[in-house]
Amino acid sequence: MSKNNIKEHWNLIALEYQKKRKLSFDDIEYALGYARESELNLLGDVEEKRIVELGCGAAENSITLAKKGGICTGVDMSLEQLKIAKNLIKENRVKIELIEGDLENLVMIDDDIFDIAISIFALDWMQDLNGAFKEAYRILKTNGIFVFSMQHPIYNLLGAEDLDLKELKISGSYFEKEVTFVESTGIDLRVHASKISDIINGLIRVGFNIETILEPKPLERDVIPHEEGYQEIFEMIPSTLICKALKVPK
Ligand SMILES: C[S@@+](CC[C@H](N)C(=O)[O-])C[C@H]1O[C@@H](n2cnc3c(N)ncnc32)[C@H](O)[C@@H]1O
Repeated sequence: MSKNNIKEHWNLIALEYQKKRKLSFDDIEYALGYARESELNLLGDVEEKRIVELGCGAAENSITLAKKGGICTGVDMSLEQLKIAKNLIKENRVKIELIEGDLENLVMIDDDIFDIAISIFALDWMQDLNGAFKEAYRILKTNGIFVFSMQHPIYNLLGAEDLDLKELKISGSYFEKEVTFVESTGIDLRVHASKISDIINGLIRVGFNIETILEPKPLERDVIPHEEGYQEIFEMIPSTLICKALKVPK
């Protein structure tokens, strides 16, 4: 399977996804409805920093960072997502470079360009997570920061769709590499699920220093906007894994 299926899937659901996603342009949300940059301060001061958003979707996070003075580039493989991004960028009157590209092979980007790479819920879709880590490492400057969030491998085990709190069950093996989802579009998506060790060892192998790993719990004041009923599940199981890694000199 194919990366084409993933691309087709995102092209088909781009509009519907963005209607649900409803991100603000004031803050970065690393997890749905909570774990925000203003509280976690993972990126530090972004003013004048060269920032790449890997798997930017409609580029809301890049827009937020551009508003705070970052010099942003968004990369995504879905042209439909990038079309929405283009409109939002125009509406928000910021300047962001958009690149159509595959995170596992960013040939169009030179080495050592960016101070910061961020990626929010995009690395879950990789066929070759290590390949994507290698590319993030390559395009970052030395001492560059890589911050990403992904669905938590434990949460992935529950199957993610239509969870029922009273009937939570493990939907597959943690050790299984390939997980198949047949989404609303009818497209058969085979996604390579990562174990926690795949993520940590993958980062270490390409040369990153892991500075922090977070498994946040929703804050009491928060509601999860389009995931009613999930709040109680997220009280028990981490939905999201957030990681900050540094490209240290070799
Ligand atoms: C869940 S969306 C997240 C979008 C955005 N980061 C957000 O927070 O809303 C995942 C995005 O990753 C993109 N994507 C998936 N696999 C990719 C790949 N190999 N290369 C580039 N983009 C990819 C999809 O097109 C989609 O826009």
